Amino acid sequence: MSHEIPLSRPDITEQEIEAVSAVLRSGRLSIGPVLERFEQAVAAYTGNEYGVGCNSGTSGLHMAMTALGVGPGDEVVTTPFSFIASANPILMTGAKPVFVDICPRTLNMDPAKMEQAITPRTKAVIAVETFGNTAYMDQYAHIAARHEVTVVEDCCEALGCTLKGKQAGSFGRLGVFGFYPNKQITTGEGGMIVTRDRRLADLCRSLRSQGRPVGTTASPGTGNWLSHERLGYNFRMSEVNAAIGVVQMERLAGIIAARQRVAEMYIRRLMHIDDLILPTVEEGCTTSWFVFVVRLAPSYAREDRDRIIAGLRRHDVGAADYFPCIHLQPFYRERFGFGPGDFPIAESVSARTIALPFHNDLTERDIDVVARTLELMIKRENLQRH
Ligand SMILES: Cc1ncc(COP(=O)(O)O)c(C=O)c1O
Repeated sequence: MSHEIPLSRPDITEQEIEAVSAVLRSGRLSIGPVLERFEQAVAAYTGNEYGVGCNSGTSGLHMAMTALGVGPGDEVVTTPFSFIASANPILMTGAKPVFVDICPRTLNMDPAKMEQAITPRTKAVIAVETFGNTAYMDQYAHIAARHEVTVVEDCCEALGCTLKGKQAGSFGRLGVFGFYPNKQITTGEGGMIVTRDRRLADLCRSLRSQGRPVGTTASPGTGNWLSHERLGYNFRMSEVNAAIGVVQMERLAGIIAARQRVAEMYIRRLMHIDDLILPTVEEGCTTSWFVFVVRLAPSYAREDRDRIIAGLRRHDVGAADYFPCIHLQPFYRERFGFGPGDFPIAESVSARTIALPFHNDLTERDIDVVARTLELMIKRENLQRH
């Protein structure tokens, strides 16, 4: 009998449930001590001074762009091979995204191409750790510094990943984490900006809460609660969400160990399947495994890959095409005139990737079901092709 193996599943224990209950009983559901605890935990873990919790990774990136003064007429260099939310915040400020192609092994922006893309109009670089790969993060920082351009690290997929012993979130002027339920740790919905720059942290705190003066501790009806110094948003994270995050941070080492165990099981089981390229961890890097994404050999077309994904799903095995290229999304094509062929490596990789089920409690048996089903679908595809 088959049971569904979902693409992802949050790892929630009685500890998180207890922590949420405690907040609900406390009567303080927003702007309180639990968010501060969560912010301090993430900042300290990632080698930063400040954490500014918010309601999503997207809102964190939006605030990062705004805090850096990115706006109309500016360019921001980034990757086309990512989830759309790593580029959308550029458009939200009125600036123009400048994409650069990726390196086919690491799937991150090619550092040489990134340098070539910098112009006098470049205000920032959004450096994405694709699938939790920290490769080149130090190089991006050096190149950007040489050109006096600011790096924002989109580390939404990379909590707990390192490069040469340094944590993801410590390479840019600002780093942004995301805590959607498919991430290494979750708060339900949520995100966090991390930085060592006090001015930027203060600015982001103000932007997060309706442009209130920095240092506002007041609550509705008191002090300077109704004073607004700048155009701000409501991007706050509630105490309920933060409570989940505090416990998840306490459990992070165990979570990473569980993900490493699942990744190793996959590698052992899949390494002998022909036509499959497995994820690699670059020298000097460690990963906390956001996802487990395999790639078909270059001889496979997008349609072949799509049929394999459909076949996996038909057999109750979660699978996804992480990620369609951002520049080929309809509104990017319309607005900026992008089309197929603009970023050939990203497009070629994106046509052949398959994200497999990945979560902390997958068993040897689950991995075997996924591997056998995948093998079968690849064989079936080959029979049809030849
Ligand atoms: C690379 C990247 N950037 C940004 C985001 C946006 O985060 P959120 O979904 O929390 O808004 C995500 C994940 O969802 C992501 O993977």
